[in-house]
Amino acid sequence: MTETRRPIVDLTEAEARLSLPLKWGVPEGVIPAWVAEMDYAVDPVVLEAVQRMLADGITGYPLERDPALGESYAAWSSRHFGWAPQPEAVHEVVDVTAGVRVALDVFSGPGGVVFPTPGYNAQHGLAGVTGRAERLLEVPASAGRAEIDLDRLDALFAAGAQTLLLTQPHNPWGRVFTRAELEGIRDVVLRHGARVVSDEIHAPLVLPGAEHVSYLSIEGTHDHAVAVVAASKAFNIAGLKCAQLLVPSAADRARLADQPMSRNDSWSPLGVAAARAAYDHGDGWLASLVERLDQQRTLLGDLLAAHLPDVRMRPLEATYLAWLDASAHGHDDAAAVALERGGVMLSAGHSYAPGSTGQVRLNIATSPDRLTEIVERLAKAWA
Ligand SMILES: Cc1ncc(COP(=O)(O)O)c(C=O)c1O
Repeated sequence: MTETRRPIVDLTEAEARLSLPLKWGVPEGVIPAWVAEMDYAVDPVVLEAVQRMLADGITGYPLERDPALGESYAAWSSRHFGWAPQPEAVHEVVDVTAGVRVALDVFSGPGGVVFPTPGYNAQHGLAGVTGRAERLLEVPASAGRAEIDLDRLDALFAAGAQTLLLTQPHNPWGRVFTRAELEGIRDVVLRHGARVVSDEIHAPLVLPGAEHVSYLSIEGTHDHAVAVVAASKAFNIAGLKCAQLLVPSAADRARLADQPMSRNDSWSPLGVAAARAAYDHGDGWLASLVERLDQQRTLLGDLLAAHLPDVRMRPLEATYLAWLDASAHGHDDAAAVALERGGVMLSAGHSYAPGSTGQVRLNIATSPDRLTEIVERLAKAWA
């Protein structure tokens, strides 16, 4: 394990346009602050691992199960969270979205999937893709601290839902659910014999003051839950395509192994190499990243106070994605106005929760200068 601290290197606009084609595929003059990718250069240790593979000409199919990846993830999780799955619980999947889909298909009953909203926009519709009904569990966007309403969860299960799609830490709430909250969720789930799929992609991005608790580390969860994790969000390597599905129950692992080859959820060996490098050697870079993101969230708070005092924001406990309530400015679609009048591309609140037209999600993983310009532009656009 390499503990050496490595600095966060800001990408110039030209570099970002090259490295992050989706995020930066915006017209000249527009600043993108939407999709969850960071305007930072990839940790050189991770990049070297991928470059080495290509230099060695390793371009074939990956192993069906790479035991080294399970070992790497388990050691990483143990160091960072004080809990780890058994290495054999770690299964490669192409990305987190695919991992959630596989988990629903293989482990969940046919009943509905409870999806707390606002919820990650690309996961709206995921239940439907697996032939299940999506059951929204609304958490009011204006609530001081977003919490899962256990009575509502209970009622949705009583009405036939069979799975909870949990996002821990949460996007876009920026919340980290506490052990006590997760135990409360577990109790409701157990009462109904339901399942949980816990999307923990943002776990490495818990900021100072909060602590990540994996749902799987809660007693009594292994027979009904899986988690989906990845190095992709924290290490800016989403395009390399390898996430990990954590399946703690041996019976569930047997069901997964029985899946037909035609499922073909094929990940990339480059993604495996990158994930292993991140888990084995990325701690020094990740520490610098968390420090930077902590500074960025403080800067955002200061900028909002100075330029947008009527915009409300939940305290960001994790992730680099801030959920802003700009409804006081009275626009029909705050994100559209930000783009049209301010040249800032945000994620529209209504794609996370129906009706949240006054809310936006702002990606703060950029340079302090760019974040300052973003907020200054938003202040003019929304005025
Ligand atoms: C909560 C959450 N899950 C999943 C994803 C997407 O992950 P992947 O690209 O691995 O499917 C994101 C991306 O931002 C996310 O925020």
